[in-house]
Amino acid sequence: MKKILVLNGPNLNLLGTREPAQYGHETLADVERMCLETGATLGIEIECRQSNHEGQLIDWIHEAGREVAAGRMLGVVMNPGAYTHTSVALHDAIKGASVPLVELHISNVHAREEFRHHSYISPAARGIIVGFGVKGYPLAIEALVRVSGAK
Ligand code: DQA
Repeated sequence: MKKILVLNGPNLNLLGTREPAQYGHETLADVERMCLETGATLGIEIECRQSNHEGQLIDWIHEAGREVAAGRMLGVVMNPGAYTHTSVALHDAIKGASVPLVELHISNVHAREEFRHHSYISPAARGIIVGFGVKGYPLAIEALVRVSGAK
């Protein structure tokens, strides 16, 4: 069974209590459960990880690149949090590891502050899901499965 890695970046461990008007009331555990259920429906193994540290996220993207190259992984669904708007290093990691990656944002970043309108991740992403709340996670998983031709 092929695998998808779901990565959540900084502050997403606070989901449920963090700015619920922006991000809703579901916790990260709720989101991860939803991802596992989506994977089970699609016949895809899902692994969820979260880190507040840029270097850790980079290491996981490199690892995913090796798994994709070995034919064991379809790619990565990633909510890079605020690193979206700052991280050339994450951009380079995604490109360098040749990982098919769906960038995901819970909120519609384009309807928010101007500093959230630019993403360093988007040019390196296979596609983008923005503004559908936490329901974007199952959408992103399904999108990755469909474009990879696994279903
Ligand atoms: C976010 C949007 C980012 O601008 C913000 O820094 C986050 C969450 C989202 O999911 O809407 O941490 O990625």
